[in-house]
Amino acid sequence: MEGKTKEKEELVPIFIMGKRYEVPASFTIQKAMEYAGYQLIRGCGCRGGICGACGTVYRFPGSYKIEVGLACQTVVQPNMYLTQIPFFPATKSVYDMEKIKPSIETLVKNYPELLRCLQCNTCTKSCPMDIEVMDYIAAGMRGDIARLAELSFDCVMCGLCTSRCPAEICQYNIAILGRRLYGKYIAPRAEHLASMVGEIESGKFDSMLKELMKADEETLKTLYTAREMEPEQADEDWTPKDKTYL
Ligand code: FES
Repeated sequence: MEGKTKEKEELVPIFIMGKRYEVPASFTIQKAMEYAGYQLIRGCGCRGGICGACGTVYRFPGSYKIEVGLACQTVVQPNMYLTQIPFFPATKSVYDMEKIKPSIETLVKNYPELLRCLQCNTCTKSCPMDIEVMDYIAAGMRGDIARLAELSFDCVMCGLCTSRCPAEICQYNIAILGRRLYGKYIAPRAEHLASMVGEIESGKFDSMLKELMKADEETLKTLYTAREMEPEQADEDWTPKDKTYL
């Protein structure tokens, strides 16, 4: 052993489904659960805040407030009482995208409970992604599908909004219907796409692909480094309008 002793990390008490554990203060809820001995088979997907599998609710002693977070992103805090809600039963309509129209009638036919929204804003307060959930539901009630799609774009479908909605609306499934309608019927078409697909189908790139498949590793590295790249777009040029790929 070298002379240095690694400093011990501070431990904090947390309560997982009512049982007390001491866990490193820097851990996320997900890591803390594993540290405490839980094996995460459900309620754990990407570990990167994208898949929405790890919705978690927690509360602090003496507080009336129910807090929410993604277990893979939220760092533990002393005395949090938590449980994961990896799945919440939700209504999910089945529809044929070729046969439906981008209209309020489509939304209401598939999810009539949309019109039951009380505008209490509990959904927005329950969203770990800070999405204006109530506002996109209001856009849906107005039939503004573009706005519904835009506002719900960052949804990871964790289901926490649905778990708390007093009107029993399944917001995230309405949102994904809105984004599908927007993508299929409203978003501007990418003009170059059809010609590009045509070029691929005509076999224009077949011989190049065969050459690549025969190439050795060094050749591939050289080709990769010298590849044609689009110029980088400065961040400040980006605006939500650019989300035409929704
Ligand atoms: S594990 Fe995917 S969002 Fe947390």
